[in-house]
Amino acid sequence: MDLFEYQARDMFEAHGVPVLAGRIADTADEVEAAAKELGGVTVVKAQVKVGGRGKAGGVKVAKNPEEARSAAESILGLDIKGHVVHRVMVAAGAAINREFYFSVLLDRANRSYLVLCSYEGGMEIEQLAEERPDALARVQVSPLEGITLEVAKDIAVKAQFPAELVDQVAPVLVSLYDVFIAEDATLVEVNPLVLTEGGDIIALDGKVTLDENAAFRNPHHDALADKASADPLEEKAKAHDLNYVKLDGEVGVIGNGAGLVMSTLDVVAYAGENFGGVKPANFLDIGGGASAEVMAAGLDVILGDPQVKSVFVNVFGGITACDQVARGIVQALEIIGDQATKPLVVRLDGNSVEEGRAILAEAAHPLVHLADTMDEGASRAAELAWK
Ligand SMILES: Nc1ncnc2c1ncn2[C@@H]1O[C@H](COP(=O)(O)OP(=O)(O)O)[C@@H](O)[C@H]1O
Ligand SMILES: [Mg+2]
Repeated sequence: MDLFEYQARDMFEAHGVPVLAGRIADTADEVEAAAKELGGVTVVKAQVKVGGRGKAGGVKVAKNPEEARSAAESILGLDIKGHVVHRVMVAAGAAINREFYFSVLLDRANRSYLVLCSYEGGMEIEQLAEERPDALARVQVSPLEGITLEVAKDIAVKAQFPAELVDQVAPVLVSLYDVFIAEDATLVEVNPLVLTEGGDIIALDGKVTLDENAAFRNPHHDALADKASADPLEEKAKAHDLNYVKLDGEVGVIGNGAGLVMSTLDVVAYAGENFGGVKPANFLDIGGGASAEVMAAGLDVILGDPQVKSVFVNVFGGITACDQVARGIVQALEIIGDQATKPLVVRLDGNSVEEGRAILAEAAHPLVHLADTMDEGASRAAELAWK
């Protein structure tokens, strides 16, 4: 889960990372009031989960509350790379002397953490990496050792901070690492980290990605979820512990096991080329135990998507045998009842396939079409979605 900048700012503050005062506001009136309260120069910043807000006109300096109001009027409602701004942060303005870059992230390939840091910040990291690769320090950090003060100083030196700044910036890096570890983040990025004219080191922007696999031990992260813009179907799937991703096509896909579902998406997309280019409508992995309840929950989610025209259930019986899956489908259709109006192509294979097919054949549900192979099922589902 990615956080909004203001949430990252609050998290930084809670872990002792120096930040400036900030107030969130949803209307121009609230922005003006917040700017009055903060006093002095403020910066009105679009709160959208995408980088490059500054360049897109989503970050504006205001010398007084009136200017803050007009900045808010131009930023609220702005579309930044497909994200519409509904909320801004009014931040105290910093007199910037110099901008730096810092990030720490989970480096899966190397089974460690990776720090990227540069004394030459102020531009997008991709651009920096390309144009000034020497200026960007890449430092592997052992999860066992972490960023101690010594490690932090070493990072600052490698990032070419001048000697007089190394001791000053190092404790800030230690605090940022504390955010990364204590909050179970997979990314903490500060761009820019700045040195102010007054000589302070401050995190002026923050991007934090939290590891949702660790949600169970971070109950306070619940409140950070952006419920307003969450997809209701994804929420419903999450409530049933289903791995669901909405896609843009017309054929609903249900399978057991991520690998099988992924290849089903490919096969459906391929088959769809013969039927007006229909595509998979979603990824949905119902996992190993395809009980009637899980199948019903899965079908319920998929049938709730108005874009879906047909559903392809592609299950390979392993630990859960095909007869159980078939009973699951029959019972799920009973549970859903009249809500089920779209054709369902079912392909079963593997453990107890004959029994499974027999159960579906006997139930003879008018919406259910049996397919013998994955290709045949995908093709049939694509055809039904096209009609
Ligand atoms: N509180 C602030 N005071 C002064 N300048 C700021 C402040 N916040 C951001 N800026 C300036 O605006 C630029 C862009 O803001 P930033 O928060 O990094 O957004 P983004 O990375 O999405 O463009 C920063 O690089 C910095 O120069
Ligand atoms: Mg930034």
